[in-house]
Amino acid sequence: MRYDSVTEAIGNTPLVRIDPAVHGLRTIDLYAKLEMLNPFGSVKDRPAWHMARPHLEGAAGGDGTVVELSSGNTAKALALLAGLHGLRFKSVTNRMRVPEIKELLLLLGAEIEELPGRSECLDPTDTDDPLTHFHRALSDPGSTYLHTDQYFNPRNVEAHAAGTGPEIVKDLDGRAPDWFVACVGTAGSSTGVARVLREHDPQVRVLGLVADKSDFIPGIRTIDEVHQVGLFDPATYDAIEPVTSGEAIDGMITLIRRCGLLSGPTGGAAYQGAVRHLRRIDSEVERSEGPGRRRTAVFIVCDRAESYLSYVRQRRPELLGRAARGQVAAALTDAEARAEARVIGVDDARRWTAQGDPRPLVVDLRSPHAYAALHIEGSVNIVDELFEELVRGGLPFDKRTPVLLACPVGEKSLRHAALLTRMGHPDVRSLAGGIVAWRDAGAPLVRA
Ligand SMILES: Cc1ncc(COP(=O)(O)O)c(C=O)c1O
Repeated sequence: MRYDSVTEAIGNTPLVRIDPAVHGLRTIDLYAKLEMLNPFGSVKDRPAWHMARPHLEGAAGGDGTVVELSSGNTAKALALLAGLHGLRFKSVTNRMRVPEIKELLLLLGAEIEELPGRSECLDPTDTDDPLTHFHRALSDPGSTYLHTDQYFNPRNVEAHAAGTGPEIVKDLDGRAPDWFVACVGTAGSSTGVARVLREHDPQVRVLGLVADKSDFIPGIRTIDEVHQVGLFDPATYDAIEPVTSGEAIDGMITLIRRCGLLSGPTGGAAYQGAVRHLRRIDSEVERSEGPGRRRTAVFIVCDRAESYLSYVRQRRPELLGRAARGQVAAALTDAEARAEARVIGVDDARRWTAQGDPRPLVVDLRSPHAYAALHIEGSVNIVDELFEELVRGGLPFDKRTPVLLACPVGEKSLRHAALLTRMGHPDVRSLAGGIVAWRDAGAPLVRA
């Protein structure tokens, strides 16, 4: 294999069968499409190149800057592509939550701008969010940035309809699989591949996987966030199912330790979500048909494990040879968090912070940027990942100090309040609706 440019090495990734002894499905062959073997390391290499190509070829060697709203793999691929064409790359995001990826982007020469937004990803309906403002400015005809616009650009979908989908059909001897399973971030890969597979066989069933409510799996959206994506069309999917970060890590460990696949968390989520979904069907088919035609399913391994060591360390320290000290808020189920946390509405919280005896310590769990922009007067800022670290070492507050926890919309603070209560703190409350509800109620906020 000899190439003039590394971009020619994008695509043509292997389709590898998972040993049935690992997944246990008796009537279905399960295949992994190894998008992690693209040269820049992920499923985003194809759309990054396809979206950027028209910009890059026109601007090569100039002084342009490619810009994208991404804190992960798209940014990585674009940073490398921009460098290859003598251009700069700027990544704009609300918060870089995975430290290894931030450092890697800096190593690749990317400029990173973190905005004080409310959520991790663009919500075009939220007109107050600085990320939305920035996105609008990029789309202005006067903008000098080379904006690839992954959440809205049809070339994101086309890259997969031209490459990933046809490759799967070719490697299955000209047939579409019975099921296609993909995690949903921008929805580019699932939409593009589903389109091509259905052209071959309209009976293909498509399973979209998203992160469980208020959980975090880097690279994909939660069930609430997915509807905000411009390219997302619910009609693409026969089913959309949530996966927890715990399941994603379990799947990742199975792929790594049993299948020789150095998968990251979304590959693990796709494997685990696929097996969970197919297991139900598998036993029905076996009962009703006995040993008949074998069916096939394909899932995508989006990227590799190395960038997610801190993500794993935070949730499952024992996997990295560390003692599992205390518990982790992210490991609580929604039902446990709701049942065990004390919640306080904005009006009561205002009275409590103004007149309580003693007054509560207000802990703001948002990013330093969001805190600097606006916060409750007298609150302290401990970003949620750091807070988790503190809690792992035991209760971080004196039990005599009441605590009010605040986050963007009241979901993370609910989990942390449940955990601290479980650990024996007698008076920890989560601010219902978070700082957004506090602001919407007209309660006072100050700037740093
Ligand atoms: C690690 C990872 N997995 C899955 C996805 C989802 O892919 P898509 O954006 O095509 O929906 C992404 C997207 O950035 C990703 O970075």
